[in-house]
Amino acid sequence: MALTYRRKVDSIQNIAKRIPFDPVAFAVLYLDFVPDPWQADFLRSREYRILLNCSRQSGKSTTTAVLALWEALYIPKSFVVIDSPSLRQSQELMLKFQEFLGRLQLEDSLDSDNKLSAQFANGSRVMALPGTEKTIRSLSAVTLLIEDEASRVTDELYNSTRPMLAVSQGRLILMSTPFGKRGHFFHIYSEERRRWQYFEIPAELCPRISPEFLAEEKESNPWFEQEYHCTFMESEDQLFKFDEIKKATDDDLEPMKF
Ligand SMILES: Nc1ncnc2c1ncn2[C@@H]1O[C@H](COP(=O)(O)OP(=O)(O)OP(=O)(O)O)[C@@H](O)[C@H]1O
Ligand SMILES: [Mg+2]
Repeated sequence: MALTYRRKVDSIQNIAKRIPFDPVAFAVLYLDFVPDPWQADFLRSREYRILLNCSRQSGKSTTTAVLALWEALYIPKSFVVIDSPSLRQSQELMLKFQEFLGRLQLEDSLDSDNKLSAQFANGSRVMALPGTEKTIRSLSAVTLLIEDEASRVTDELYNSTRPMLAVSQGRLILMSTPFGKRGHFFHIYSEERRRWQYFEIPAELCPRISPEFLAEEKESNPWFEQEYHCTFMESEDQLFKFDEIKKATDDDLEPMKF
């Protein structure tokens, strides 16, 4: 029997009262979305810094949309900003968000025409950025910043979004499939991981990806390890291998004398 219980028209206050603060219960009961085990752990985490290194198609963007919606409804005056490499990807993500929002049939959501943002009667806002740092400098007091496909977001954009968390002490979540040994996503993975809550989700943990499909991909996709096994491969356009560069800049090594 389906567990779904949903009123036709509901208000933010009613939802917040009836489901006690659990994003997983909220997702199942109100959004008809049953999170995978890692998605459930992630949705429930209140860690300040979270790094997710995930297979393709494991559900990163969908879970991001669920989290953004839960945060906006349950934490009044929250400001959720979602960052992605391009306008098109931000629009895709907001489509998922709007679809989940539509399932709630809220009577008091103040939906804006703008496809990249939404506002709520409890003062919360959710906004997706168009993938460039040029237009975002005026944003501040962000309570949750989520970077989808972080390995492909430029370092310029990442560096200019981080200060938005300064005053609000906001949370920061980076989620991505790897894309070579470069950029802030790789840097945090390789140098700062211990300071983050780290999730590694290979394709085998995704119940919707079949072993048969993976076997075929292993045969024909040269990026198999990167796309499905969370592996940071050497970038094709890298002249020197990452480890070689690292060795060359190692302070412990004696400089060569001529
Ligand atoms: N828990 C779930 N239950 C059912 N379907 C799910 C679940 N999580 C994700 N999906 C579905 O899996 C598909 C891939 O999800 P999504 O686009 O979020 O993955 P992704 O990791 O962002 O993929 P990509 O790496 O291509 O960006 C979508 O059709 C989504 O609806
Ligand atoms: Mg995605």
